[in-house]
Formats: sequence, C-alpha cells, structure tokens
Amino acid sequence: MKMGDNAMFRLPDQGQSLEDVTAVYDEALANMTSEMSGKLAATAFWGTDEVKAIIHEAYARFGGWNALFTFQEPGAARIENDVLDACILLGGGAGSMARGNLTSGGTESNFCALQAMRAWARETRGENLHRPNVIAPHTIHATIHKAAMVLDIELRTVEHSPFDPVDTAAMEALIDDQTIGLLGSAPSWPFGQVDPIAEMGQIALAHNIWLHVDGCVGTYVLPFFRELGEAIPDFDLGVPGVRSLSGDLHKYGFAPKPLSTILWASAAEQRYHFLPITDWPCGLYVSQSLVGSRPFAPIAAAWGLFHGLGHAGYLENARQLRDTRNRILKAANEIEGLTPWPCHGPLVQISGDGLEIKTVIGGMTARGWNLLGVQQPEAIHLTIDIMAEDALNRFIRDLEEVTALVRTGEIDAEGLLSYGGVAAEETAPKWLLSAIEIMTQAPHRHE
Ligand SMILES: Cc1ncc(COP(=O)(O)O)c(C=O)c1O
Repeated sequence: MKMGDNAMFRLPDQGQSLEDVTAVYDEALANMTSEMSGKLAATAFWGTDEVKAIIHEAYARFGGWNALFTFQEPGAARIENDVLDACILLGGGAGSMARGNLTSGGTESNFCALQAMRAWARETRGENLHRPNVIAPHTIHATIHKAAMVLDIELRTVEHSPFDPVDTAAMEALIDDQTIGLLGSAPSWPFGQVDPIAEMGQIALAHNIWLHVDGCVGTYVLPFFRELGEAIPDFDLGVPGVRSLSGDLHKYGFAPKPLSTILWASAAEQRYHFLPITDWPCGLYVSQSLVGSRPFAPIAAAWGLFHGLGHAGYLENARQLRDTRNRILKAANEIEGLTPWPCHGPLVQISGDGLEIKTVIGGMTARGWNLLGVQQPEAIHLTIDIMAEDALNRFIRDLEEVTALVRTGEIDAEGLLSYGGVAAEETAPKWLLSAIEIMTQAPHRHE
C-alpha cells in the first residue's frame, strides 16, 4: 500500500464523540481472542479482578505522566524507589549492595545487561578485546540474540534436551580469550526450566567473566513457588558469580506493560549501565535505561500491586498459578499421546507422543484457544495464568477431545508452532517466505 492510498486511515475532518470512539474499541475487542481463551498465551498475566482494579486506579491518576522526569518529582520518585527496593529484595539482593533500574520490558533489560557486560569487558581488557562472545544454553531467549546482534557480540550456544539440564562443562569448553560472559535463564521460555545457575556462577568466577541471568519470567514468581514448597534451583543475585538479573514486572509481577527491571549485584556493575550524554546543547542527559520517555502509570500500578496484594497476595497468586498448572499437567499426563515436560514454575510445554502436536494446536485454535508453540522439539507452549474454574475445565476438556480427534485422524488442520505468529522458515506456511520480507513487503497494516 502506497502513501496517500485511499484505503489508508486518515484523520477525520472533525473530532468524533467519545461514544463513537469507544464503539470502535468495543468492535475491535469483540473480534479479538476473548480474555479467557487467550489466558494461556495472549492475555496471560492479567491476574485477578483485584489486580485489574488497582491497575485501573493507577492509570486514571498517572496516565499522562512521563517517568523520564521522576528526578524532578519527589512523589513519583518515592513510588519508583519503593518499587525498585521491593524488586531488589525479591531478586535475592537482601543484605547485599544490589541495585536496580526499571526498563520497558525483558528485551530492554537483557539488552542493558549485555551492554553493561560489554562496557565492563572493554574497560577491563582494553585492546585485548576484539570480538567479544557470550555463551548460553540454546534455550536462551530470542531477545538475547537480538541484543547480541545490535551490540556485535557473538552468541555461542550449547544444546540440551527438555529432559536434561544444559551441560555446563560444554559451556565452559567454549570459553576463550574473547569470552566476556555466560548467560542462563530462570526459567527459559522454550523449556520452562531454570538453568544450572549455581554451576555457571562457579565457572564465571573461575574465569572472571560476567554471569547474566534472564529471569524475565521467573524473578517475581519463582520465590513464591519456592515458598510454597516447590524445588526451584538457585538463580538470583544471591548466587555467587551472578552480576545481573532481569525480571519482568509486566509478566508474573502482574503489572501492566511496559515494565521490567534489570538488577545488578552492586554499583560496580551498574556503573556500566548508564549512558550519560553531556556533549549536546541541553547539558547532562541521563536516563534510567535505554529508553528516554516512559510511562509512569505502570510503575505506579506496580507500587499499588505491591501494597494492595502484599506478600500474602503474591503468595496466593502463586498458589493459584501452581494449582492451575498442576491440573493441566495431570490432565496432559493422562491424555494418550501427550507428554508434558518437566518444568520449574508456571510455563508448561507439552509434546506429542506418536501424534503431530501442531495438529493439536490447530484443533485448539479452532476452538478459540490462542496457543503458542515450541519448534525444537515440537511442543505446545502454555503460559499459565490464574484461570476461572469453568475456563480451566473447558480447556482441559477441549485438550482431551482435540487430542482424541487428532489420534483418530478427524482433525488435520495444522496450527503454528511459533512465538507470536511468525514461524521459522522451514516450518512456516508457504506464504511466510522470510521474516524480513513479511515485515517490509506486506502492507504496513497488519490485516
Ligand atoms: C525469558 C524471557 N526473556 C525475555 C523476554 C522478552 O520480554 P519482553 O517481551 O517483555 O521484551 C521474554 C518474553 O517472553 C522471556 O520469556
């Protein structure tokens, strides 16, 4: 579609009434996946009605505020600092010199970690650093690949199966004089498991390299799972060798997007994070993270949630997440043809045993369940959220019925095994030639 094309939306000549505007919102919503049937993917992390009420109040009050300027606003600064304090404590920073910054999401938090790691390595190694590399299990999130691309860091990966942790000796064997750090996940998005972070920490210490943990999913929920008695491997700032830990408040912190944290073991790491600019006409420019302007409302909402739910509320959320997960795991274990993978926390993966799991995804999609997938090996990916009893029962019933129909060959529509709709070239439907072609040649509108 070309600029100026009549089909493009253009500003109406006159403003329309609020009723007209909200009617279009409602029409759009009516065509979107319903909140309940998107629960295990698209609309995950919505939490309970209490969570929604707190978020609503924060947006009503702070919707227009720019958190770029919290340094000028003591009221806002207090809220932001409180949020960071609570995050540092949840991230294992109690009694330490740990510090933290708020960011816009896991992508930015991981980017900031790699940026700081590279700045540290450049300063400490000087001219000896030519082509920095980092080493990670192959399940490390795509956003790490993206950050490494931007920062010109080579990412070396070690494969493992969903049934065995990564071999840390194989990771160590990849270290050379250009290695600046190791990376692990807590848990990884594709497998839902916490990597052997304590072992990685020992290797990082022995080689004087940085260990970053991508805790975007787990940092604000795994401590509560552990408190409920679940065995969760150590992964946070309390583990020797961990120098940075990401954690998304907008995932299992239940805060609205965009809001994440990057936590540092101490100011010695955080000092490489800031990118102060003085050589431009307005004097000192320094922001919390990579982005400049950022919404204050999600920060206020996180503060409201921390206060409104308290420790007991987050523990109760975790209990509900665990119970929902356990119901789904039990059902999947009992359904012939499905194999759930071992997991730490609230991500569940289910592969097919003698049947095509992408056909199960296709069948579930036809019943309104908007699910994600894993490609290597193939599996359904479920992001567990707190679900109403009837929605959970319906999901389990649909999974049983759809799997049975796939087994008997009565369903053959394949679903996408992908993260957010764009599958890898080899498994993608024919119309998906390559991601860049899709992004640049398709109309800029998404329909
Ligand atoms: C482990 C992990 N890291 C990073 C990210 C990226 O987070 P965001 O989408 O908030 O940028 C995700 C998103 O699912 C994730 O699961």
